[in-house]
Amino acid sequence: MSTDPPLKELALHNITVRFGGLTALDDVSLRVAPGRIVGVIGPNGAGKTTLFNVICGFVPPTSGHLTLDGQPWRPRPHQLNGLGIARTLQGVGQFGGMSVLENVMVGTRGRRAEAEAMAALTRCGVDRYAGARPGALPYATRKRVELARALVAKPRILMLDEPAGGLDADEIQWLASLIKETGTTVLLVEHHMDLVMSVCDEILVLDFGKPIALGTPEEISKNPRVTDAYLGAAA
Ligand SMILES: Nc1ncnc2c1ncn2[C@@H]1O[C@H](COP(=O)(O)OP(=O)(O)O)[C@@H](O)[C@H]1O
Ligand SMILES: [Mg+2]
Repeated sequence: MSTDPPLKELALHNITVRFGGLTALDDVSLRVAPGRIVGVIGPNGAGKTTLFNVICGFVPPTSGHLTLDGQPWRPRPHQLNGLGIARTLQGVGQFGGMSVLENVMVGTRGRRAEAEAMAALTRCGVDRYAGARPGALPYATRKRVELARALVAKPRILMLDEPAGGLDADEIQWLASLIKETGTTVLLVEHHMDLVMSVCDEILVLDFGKPIALGTPEEISKNPRVTDAYLGAAA
């Protein structure tokens, strides 16, 4: 078991990210309080994955900073697990040379690794594929394996980047229940408004990198700027 102090709070303070002339994130602040399910939504290209990558340490902010438990924090990808932060990436990034079970065991350590990996696969409804190669499985099944790999570490903060992408309505329903049941802090980056509306306590809406709204699902669904951003993207 981890002996790290419990995470209290992850926060972004005035984060801006520029890629050359393109501003992917423009002065974004967000507090992810413990136990909360916080969503980040926005049309394609809004900066959701960039925000995710900033927290994972893949993309350094051009300006602004992050804090963990109120302390300035510079995230590094290889330190996330040790801090109790687990993530799934957009798409499915599994190791083709290993079985499903071995892929999930990568997310955990110790004597009980195999039993815990099996339990995570069972929880995600894919234990019967433990011996299979991920590449041979349908996309939705691989997404469940990816979730199992994140959950097996019993993270304090679970970060999900577009977990609903490529899933049908039933799969999304299942995903919504799983997210609500995890009992951990969740940062959910997602394009699907319905999923985010049904599971999140709080939602940040990005449009071309700019934070245009922050509030409860009810507040967000009534916000004309949000509807405009989505209708604008669909047009
Ligand atoms: N590494 C990068 N280099 C250059 N431009 C990037 C990079 N990553 C993202 N972008 C650009 O930043 C914008 C936001 O992208 P992204 O964060 O992936 O949006 P989303 O996940 O909301 O669809 C897009 O215009 C995208 O093309
Ligand atoms: Mg994305």
